[in-house]
Amino acid sequence: MIPFAYYEESAAALRAKISGFQPEVLMVLGSGLGYMGDIVEDPIVVPYGEIPHFKVSTAPGHKGQLVFGTLSGRRVAVMQGRMHHYEGYSYEEIGFPIRVLRLLGCSNMIVTNAAGGVNLDFNVGDIMLITDHIKLFMESPLRGPNLEQFGTRFPDMSFLYTPAFQTAARESAKELGLTLREGVYMYWPGPQFETPAEVRLARTLGADAVGMSTAPEAIVAGHCGMQVLGFTLVSNMAAGVLPQPLSGEEVNAAAEAARERFSKLLLTCLPKL
Ligand code: HPA
Repeated sequence: MIPFAYYEESAAALRAKISGFQPEVLMVLGSGLGYMGDIVEDPIVVPYGEIPHFKVSTAPGHKGQLVFGTLSGRRVAVMQGRMHHYEGYSYEEIGFPIRVLRLLGCSNMIVTNAAGGVNLDFNVGDIMLITDHIKLFMESPLRGPNLEQFGTRFPDMSFLYTPAFQTAARESAKELGLTLREGVYMYWPGPQFETPAEVRLARTLGADAVGMSTAPEAIVAGHCGMQVLGFTLVSNMAAGVLPQPLSGEEVNAAAEAARERFSKLLLTCLPKL
């Protein structure tokens, strides 16, 4: 159980480093989009290792730093590198940075991921607006004594992915002439990809995409009263959909290929949040 004092200590250390800058939107970016941290204007970069109680992300391609500054005229904090349960982090640890940024004043979060397409109408390279998620496996990031400073014991998840933000995303896609899919993201802890039978199960349960992140972060953000906008890049069709094996390289290549389109969408959404 991480004590509230740890969150406050991290927030205080960050406040000292960003001298008066108040971020509005936290961006937790998945494969291929971490580079958005590099295009932040007037950046203040803080490596995770310099923030008390922060864990360092080990996933390949994840830099492990927070970038504060401006994107599309909004004050943002970009997490370059997120934590996954499969790396060995607890769900509580995965939620830690989100709560710290909440203490710094962030009331909105954009979260992205690469995931496997479960919906047979989807294609590799599609971007899906997350309208809801399913997280059946393993415990909640909110397990343990509730920290009332952040939110209530039994938080409502009915509008976790903020409806007004979804509208903003649809409008942004339209402006850009970009096809935006919509659907339900189903969380799987990984690191192994799902089996074809698990993917059929996911489809039966109403999932449109399967992936190994996002849901824990969204739950923590929702609990502490943040508004959430989530997108999935369909980096591969999920196991069993096509007669071929999956690989991490394929995921990264698809994420890189989509990065310009995907980042344009985020930059267009930002002023509307
Ligand atoms: N399954 C789970 N996570 C993923 C996938 C997938 O097919 N693709 C990218 N991340």
